[in-house]
Amino acid sequence: MAHIVAEGLSKVFGPNPRSVLPLLERGVGKDEILEQTGHTVGLLDVDVTIEPGETFVVMGLSGSGKSTLVRCFNRLIEPTSGTLTLDGTDVLALRPRELRAMRRSRMGMVFQRFALLPHRSVLDNVGFGLRVQGVSRAERERQAGAWIERVGLQGYERSLPRELSGGMQQRVGLARALCTDPDVLLMDEAFSALDPLIRREMQGELLRLQRELAKTIVFITHDLDEALRLGDRIAVLKDGVVVQVGTPTEIVTRPADDYVKAFVEDVDRSRVMKVRHIMAPVPDDADAADQTVNAVRVSSEALLQDVVADVAAADGPVFVVDREGRLVGSVEARSVLAALARGPHAAPS
Ligand SMILES: Nc1ncnc2c1ncn2[C@@H]1O[C@H](COP(=O)(O)OP(=O)(O)OP(=O)(O)O)[C@@H](O)[C@H]1O
Ligand SMILES: [Mg+2]
Repeated sequence: MAHIVAEGLSKVFGPNPRSVLPLLERGVGKDEILEQTGHTVGLLDVDVTIEPGETFVVMGLSGSGKSTLVRCFNRLIEPTSGTLTLDGTDVLALRPRELRAMRRSRMGMVFQRFALLPHRSVLDNVGFGLRVQGVSRAERERQAGAWIERVGLQGYERSLPRELSGGMQQRVGLARALCTDPDVLLMDEAFSALDPLIRREMQGELLRLQRELAKTIVFITHDLDEALRLGDRIAVLKDGVVVQVGTPTEIVTRPADDYVKAFVEDVDRSRVMKVRHIMAPVPDDADAADQTVNAVRVSSEALLQDVVADVAAADGPVFVVDREGRLVGSVEARSVLAALARGPHAAPS
């Protein structure tokens, strides 16, 4: 079952949001609605389906509705219309008490500005969600301590947030969100306030944790590199509308419109595309060739940047193997070059 399903989700900000729904249905645009009615369209008719265990990135320019979308998921913002389910439960029908329980136990949130309690220790900050749940002090300190260790902050349990660097504070933010063991992590520009090296380090940390935890992560960013590195799929928002949802490779190689194209124009494709995206079928005489041709094998899951040297150095096609070592295709230098090219001669994928 899909984990989070939003259908026709819209959010209008202003004194009488529902009054502008008929205008939206007639296709009147965001700018015009603001001009005519003073209402701001935050989201418009958003359909997304997020699978369990997937890292789903939401990308878009400032004001495109990213925060609005993720805040609709836990109803920090009430959608104006549409439906929203979490594992089949109608989230919009939850009463206040049920909603609080859902936020406490099923959804963790990590904010851009960390939002830690300044006068509480790291240990208290991380264990805060458990405290709200009424977990005993000893038990929450045990669990919080384990998460602090897991995000690499052991030894800092008694420190105050201001005694930590930005990167360390965000590790606390991450541990706090994970401490209640939620199914869903909502991360709104969680790494955007960090400087580039620390930011990359935190991305690596999240990928590492995610391999063990397999949470459902909704990760908001306006940074394409971050989106490509973290996302299993990426949704691109423009003026509250989802203009494309796809894998990183789909977004880069088949942008749906000029807005998405502008985002991905300068991206280094070799860092996004994998061998399996460009490989040719195994040749008919593979058995014979297998005996004689060069011994180089590349993995179907390898990024092009990691195989370009081997493929360029090989005399002819190089065989591609899957995770089990089975022969699944072949690549040669010209197919790699074509995939990396932009413009009219670029290879379709
Ligand atoms: N509380 C609010 N009242 C009125 N308008 C709002 C409110 N919150 C958001 N908006 C408007 O909704 C639109 C989407 O805003 P949102 O904060 O979701 O964008 P964003 O993509 O998260 O931008 P950023 O990258 O700057 O964080 C914007 O036009 C914004 O001005
Ligand atoms: Mg935002």
